[in-house]
Amino acid sequence: MPSLNDIRSTFLGYFEKQGHQVVPSSPLVPRNDPTLMFTNSGMVQFKNLFTGVETRDYKRATTAQKCVRAGGKHNDLDNVGYTARHHTFFEMMGNFSFGDYFKTEAIPFAWELVTRELDIPAERLLVTIYHTDDEAAEIWKKVGVPDDRIIRIDTTDNFWMMGPTGPCGPCTEIFFDHGDKYWGGPPGSPEEDGDRFVEIWNLVFMQNEQFEDGSMRALDMQSIDTGMGIERVAALLQGTNDNYSTDLIRALIEASADATSSDPDGPGKTHHRVIADHLRSTSFLIADGVMPSNDGRGYVLRRIMRRAMRHAHMLGAKDPVMHRLVPALVRQMGQAYPELVRAQPLIEETLKLEETRFKQTLDRGLKLLDDELVRLGEGAKLPGQAAFKLYDTYGFPLDLTQDALRERGREVDTGGFDEAMAEQKAKARAAWSGSGEAADLAIWFEIADAKGATDFLGYDTETAEGQMLTLVKDGAEVDALEAGESGWVVMNQTPFYGESGGQVGDSGWMRRLEDEHDLAEVTDTQKMGGGKVFAHQVTIKQGRFAKGEAVALEVDHARRGKIRANHSATHLLHEALRRA
Ligand code: ALA
Repeated sequence: MPSLNDIRSTFLGYFEKQGHQVVPSSPLVPRNDPTLMFTNSGMVQFKNLFTGVETRDYKRATTAQKCVRAGGKHNDLDNVGYTARHHTFFEMMGNFSFGDYFKTEAIPFAWELVTRELDIPAERLLVTIYHTDDEAAEIWKKVGVPDDRIIRIDTTDNFWMMGPTGPCGPCTEIFFDHGDKYWGGPPGSPEEDGDRFVEIWNLVFMQNEQFEDGSMRALDMQSIDTGMGIERVAALLQGTNDNYSTDLIRALIEASADATSSDPDGPGKTHHRVIADHLRSTSFLIADGVMPSNDGRGYVLRRIMRRAMRHAHMLGAKDPVMHRLVPALVRQMGQAYPELVRAQPLIEETLKLEETRFKQTLDRGLKLLDDELVRLGEGAKLPGQAAFKLYDTYGFPLDLTQDALRERGREVDTGGFDEAMAEQKAKARAAWSGSGEAADLAIWFEIADAKGATDFLGYDTETAEGQMLTLVKDGAEVDALEAGESGWVVMNQTPFYGESGGQVGDSGWMRRLEDEHDLAEVTDTQKMGGGKVFAHQVTIKQGRFAKGEAVALEVDHARRGKIRANHSATHLLHEALRRA
């Protein structure tokens, strides 16, 4: 029976033999996509190769890509642990052609890999195509798939788009039939959501580009983007239809059972599944530079961590558990992903610290929740105020409270929660504006509320792309700044360090992605709106910088280096003075 690691090697090895460059997985925090929260498919790192904006010295590539779906458009967090196939972290295997081969080669490659290299019986497979794609139907017939196993689908299920804009095209998907002991029907039937027919591989024929105004153009070159969920394939090759019973994830479930001295298949089964899944996403996110925080990506990480920690608590764990499972994960995945080995001490320390802290309020929070439920009686929703108190005082993210209630078949009044949150923000604003600070500070709180926190990427990069969420001039929001004008730009993410902790803000440059001759000089970076938004002070040198557009950001490296050195020297001086 092939292990998950064997399957990964078979996939990459097969495409390497077919002239593909084996490219390492890109980080989970996308560097080249200003709007995506986490890398959620294999093509993210190649996005600009499909549109022809970027070229590399290879035209065929193959990868095993780390993906996280726990926030933004694709969010599977709520279902993890309760179903056979939802994960916050998974690996997507793929082969890619950038204007090299197209359908005629991609389909036979996929068929050969699936039926010969992986030895999956052809009679258990069926395929879907986009309803008008006669060419794909012909190629499938040629490789030997009978007509009645080629299903035409006329919905967006078979027209893949990475988002509202960007490269896209019709796709064909391969399904595996787990047999009639499972409920479910073939794709396109009313029972298609059952567990019997499972999609294992999606082949996208990249041939169009979608624009914001709804128009679509044909791309100059025709390309291939594919995605195979390795956990699903491992499941079927290991004779199960449950991803959580495959060797790799099972090893993590057993580590969780060991660490909590409990039965992996006993009444705490769901807890172990959640822990195994969340261990993977949290560890890989930390390895890629995300740290738990109260905003943006860091908050998604914190939510996942705390969720796992509640499940460990439910298993009766008295001491922090998560950090003790990291060695098992490194044993399973460290060879394929060396960044995990490098970051192991950081991952363990971060998990231990967070769990130690959260444990201080977890018990009391759960007790409050229980008391509240008893007080409310059967079936009533948990009032928003109570959920907000759990959030604000006990550090329970809303989805943790929802997860805790799910076991009892109860729900939260989320509208009430939002109201309580808005009320608190209004109070904070009122307190601030009464504090005598300059009147225009209020605008930063409004921006922070409306746009959310800026994600700081600068711990491990000095260049990144980001989206301009809004611009400010003379204390008011404006749609754009023209050449010669100065003002402030708020980004959704930035590698620029905002002034804080006695270290001054970064300076550097911004270039519009549409036309890189359009340049703005960044002269300072400040954290505004209670530290949530990073405001970049700019002077526009050329072009027009407008709200909503994407820019490439570059920190003045030489200056950052000097600031760091000075800042460290200050710390050393203070320490020396303390010791003197
Ligand atoms: N990019 C395609 C997907 O994510 C292959 O399904």
